[in-house]
Amino acid sequence: MKIRKAELSDSSELFALEQKLFLSKNYPLSRGSFCYHIKNNMLFVAEIDNIIAGYILVLIKRKNAKLYSIGVKEEFRGRKIAQKLLEFSIKKLSSIGFDSLLLEVRVDNEVAINLYKKIGFSIKKNLNEFYLDGCDAYLMEL
Ligand SMILES: CC(C)(COP(=O)(O)OP(=O)(O)OC[C@H]1O[C@@H](n2cnc3c(N)ncnc32)[C@H](O)[C@@H]1OP(=O)(O)O)[C@@H](O)C(=O)NCCC(=O)NCCS
Repeated sequence: MKIRKAELSDSSELFALEQKLFLSKNYPLSRGSFCYHIKNNMLFVAEIDNIIAGYILVLIKRKNAKLYSIGVKEEFRGRKIAQKLLEFSIKKLSSIGFDSLLLEVRVDNEVAINLYKKIGFSIKKNLNEFYLDGCDAYLMEL
């Protein structure tokens, strides 16, 4: 598996993956948003045999870094791809001077919460009815 910076030519494949990963209520990224984030934020892909198996998007705003989204294709799950994408991004962030990373996650997304806790994130706050369907979010920080 290779982790690399996403390129504009990846946007169609990333968009197709996003459609499978997230329902419309979870605000999947549009193709245009992928292009924007490829140019302006930290977007890495995990590639296996030239296929994008997963991606991670970290938004960089002045002194703050936020893990906006992470996803792995169903057929590639359980192979530590998400963990490696996170570890890779955290290393990059610390090399450019960021010492904390924030994220919001649905309280019912047990798989993602396990992943984040394994990496070392802790729950800072409960954000009431953060999502459109009324679901709360945890604000987590590393
Ligand atoms: C969350 C997601 C990215 C995990 O990807 P993955 O590559 O399968 O995860 P990894 O193999 O790296 O797993 C790392 C850790 O995550 C947790 N985890 C992963 N899959 C899990 C599962 N099915 N059940 C419980 N915990 C799980 C575990 O702590 C695991 O460590 P362990 O294997 O030592 O127990 C993937 O399930 C996914 O794309 N889900 C849909 C999109 C999503 O919800 N994204 C997060 C919100 S933006």
